[in-house]
Amino acid sequence: MKKIIITIDGYSSCGKSTLAKALAAQLNYVFIDSGAMYRAITLYFLRNHIDWNNPSEVKNAIENITLEFSYNKENGSCEMFLNDENVEWLIRDMLVAENVSEVAAVKEVREFAIAEQRKMGKGKGIVMDGRDIGSTVFPKAEFKIFLIADPAIRVERRFREMLEKNPNITIDEVKANLEMRDYIDSNREFSPLRKAKDAVELDNSNLTIEDQMKIALKLAKGKIQD
Ligand code: DC
Repeated sequence: MKKIIITIDGYSSCGKSTLAKALAAQLNYVFIDSGAMYRAITLYFLRNHIDWNNPSEVKNAIENITLEFSYNKENGSCEMFLNDENVEWLIRDMLVAENVSEVAAVKEVREFAIAEQRKMGKGKGIVMDGRDIGSTVFPKAEFKIFLIADPAIRVERRFREMLEKNPNITIDEVKANLEMRDYIDSNREFSPLRKAKDAVELDNSNLTIEDQMKIALKLAKGKIQD
């Protein structure tokens, strides 16, 4: 059967990864969480005190970064490896969340991440979620979704997710972080968050994951059979 590229873009905490992961599992495709790559780069910069406003420092640092995803059979997740270290848990930390949008706005960082993402899409058969996947990384992707959700629902979702790793976090901190990231992600100079012209907009504020899957799967199968 024909293999396609499926992209899912949208603001933070719209449920992109949940949908992308479920869709990939149904289609036997590879799920790629592009945000995890920016988070891993941010973790590397923080650990190594890299000044991301200094292009030559960034360039040198990037030469020492290897990013890989590895499938964990036990929990069905794709986990992020930074230089052979499993950082899946560490990259979900608040310190990374507070800095990742700034790091992801750096030209050299985006060039590196986008090149890696395109390599991962060479054989097609992937579902990749992010901010600029349908607009910049794979402008010719066969099926593009732009996911939206009510801001209050997004804050609530992210709060529940963050609480597991950061028991002292408050809902106001989560709200401020989401608003800041949305602003930086949408207003940066290089490949800002944009809905691709040919993307299907899906508002999942009041949809269960099963509802979303029904819609997405039907549309995806239509594209696969085209
Ligand atoms: O999806 P996420 O919250 O894990 O993404 C973390 C950050 O990475 C987000 O604030 C913006 C950035 N990002 C990006 O700029 N481009 C992507 N394709 C994916 C994520």
